[in-house]
Amino acid sequence: MAGVLRADPSNADQAAAWDGQEGSYWAEHADRFDRAVRAYREGFLAAADVSAADRVLDIGCGTGETTRDLARQASRGRVLGVDLSAAMLRVARRRAAAEALSNAEFVQADAQIHAFPAAAFDVAVSRAGTMFFADPVAAFRNIGGALRPGGRLVQSVWQPLADNEWFLALTGALALGRPMPTPAVDAPGPFSLSDPARVRTVLGAAGFTDVRLDPRSGSMWFGEDAADAERFTLGMLGWMLDGLDEQDRRRAVDDLRATLAAHESDSGVLYASAAWIIRAARP
Ligand SMILES: C[S@@+](CC[C@H](N)C(=O)[O-])C[C@H]1O[C@@H](n2cnc3c(N)ncnc32)[C@H](O)[C@@H]1O
Repeated sequence: MAGVLRADPSNADQAAAWDGQEGSYWAEHADRFDRAVRAYREGFLAAADVSAADRVLDIGCGTGETTRDLARQASRGRVLGVDLSAAMLRVARRRAAAEALSNAEFVQADAQIHAFPAAAFDVAVSRAGTMFFADPVAAFRNIGGALRPGGRLVQSVWQPLADNEWFLALTGALALGRPMPTPAVDAPGPFSLSDPARVRTVLGAAGFTDVRLDPRSGSMWFGEDAADAERFTLGMLGWMLDGLDEQDRRRAVDDLRATLAAHESDSGVLYASAAWIIRAARP
């Protein structure tokens, strides 16, 4: 629940969403969210390149799939997962315990300001968890302080909107011709680290060096079939129907159904997506 979490005031909206309804939805559908980005799993783990004795920080760990993957690899080390969402962390803790991963720990905190032990980690990773900082320079500086000199940062973030069919198609259908809720590239949200120039500026200002972005692409999975994907998508984006009258709601849902049906395949409902793997060094 919100209340025990001390978030920076600049992150109040994100904390309210993730430690509120949005986080609860993710927690409830953890397997589905993990499956949605399965195409990126192996590549991200390879880029993280964690070895057995590494001490790893997983930023915005959510329900902890990456934390668990890395805890298995860092068998003589440990992994600390940090997240805003109490509900997602409950799932993360439960799943790590079920696997008896005693080297995985979780803490509910705002990574932008949390007092991490200094220079205590060899590598900091994040799968889609670093795009929500209101003050990314402060946040990455804080994370950099938690890394030992020579430590590494490896994150996966979305490439620009135009390369992410899933976002364009799903929000486009529900927008019904209204202006799309396109997140500004310098505001917290899924595309805030999509511009390579901005990434270099932000990480450079936070004290990181050797910034490298590698493009990755893959299909995102939204459901077994269009009906399954419709339930899931409306659970995530149903707020876009707020303010529409009954007729427009029906039209918007029809548009959503049409795009989902057009993306059905033998492997489920799939949309194109593109991400960056960003590596940086802590000097
Ligand atoms: C898109 S989810 C990704 C979760 C997880 N990494 C995964 O791949 O399944 C983004 C996560 O970042 C977390 N997050 C956002 N801002 C954060 C912050 N300032 N500090 C810690 N976690 C944050 C959210 O609570 C959410 O769980």
